[in-house]
Amino acid sequence: MSSESTLVTAAHFAYLAERTTPEGAFLRELKRAAGQAGIPEICVAPEQIALMGILLRLCRAQRVVEVGTLAGYSAIGMARALPSDGHLHTVEFAPKHAAFAREWIAKSDVADRITVLEGRGDEHLPRFEDESIDAVFLDADKGGYPGYLREAMRFLRPGGLVMADNAFAFGQLLDPNPTDREVGAVKAFNDHVPTVPNLEAVIVPIGDGLWVGIKR
Ligand SMILES: C[S@@+](CC[C@H](N)C(=O)[O-])C[C@H]1O[C@@H](n2cnc3c(N)ncnc32)[C@H](O)[C@@H]1O
Repeated sequence: MSSESTLVTAAHFAYLAERTTPEGAFLRELKRAAGQAGIPEICVAPEQIALMGILLRLCRAQRVVEVGTLAGYSAIGMARALPSDGHLHTVEFAPKHAAFAREWIAKSDVADRITVLEGRGDEHLPRFEDESIDAVFLDADKGGYPGYLREAMRFLRPGGLVMADNAFAFGQLLDPNPTDREVGAVKAFNDHVPTVPNLEAVIVPIGDGLWVGIKR
């Protein structure tokens, strides 16, 4: 037995992606329609949504908050892991994205489990009551993550689940000359997470790196 990790290569990612429970025809069609509508193709990877669904089921999540709806892909994927009386609030800043997401959520099998809140994350998150939420997913402006996490640690119940995307900074985390303007914010957040009291967290290396944590 070795304490060394296996180096995960692009070939490993392709291998695991091919063996993950498929996202299904509806979500594939949503992504195609979003691309045609000029919405950027930056939703989470199918293997991330598979993992997130499993984690939500494991913690028996009923109430979930997401920041960053885009086209509604991850919102629909997560809502499918909730019981029929569960609910997911998803916050979206761009009116065009919110309108597209509402249209596709209405056509989905989980239309009654999702509410799209239009506006900024820092405007909506303070409105959730203390310890009232089971899980949170951060997938919006990276500079906002520390503030969103602070709010999440207040509104999550003990044992609540934290997930945050792009820990690998769009593939540029270890790049000496990154071109994306949010890389610095991702690095600052990655350094911040292990210092947050009452949070146990780890970066899971799927997609663009998914932070997974639990509020003690
Ligand atoms: C990476 S996309 C979200 C992808 C989505 N979670 C998925 O996987 O299907 C990020 C979204 O966050 C939105 N956004 C950016 N800044 C925001 C803010 N301050 N508050 C709320 N949403 C924001 C963007 O308009 C964009 O639609």
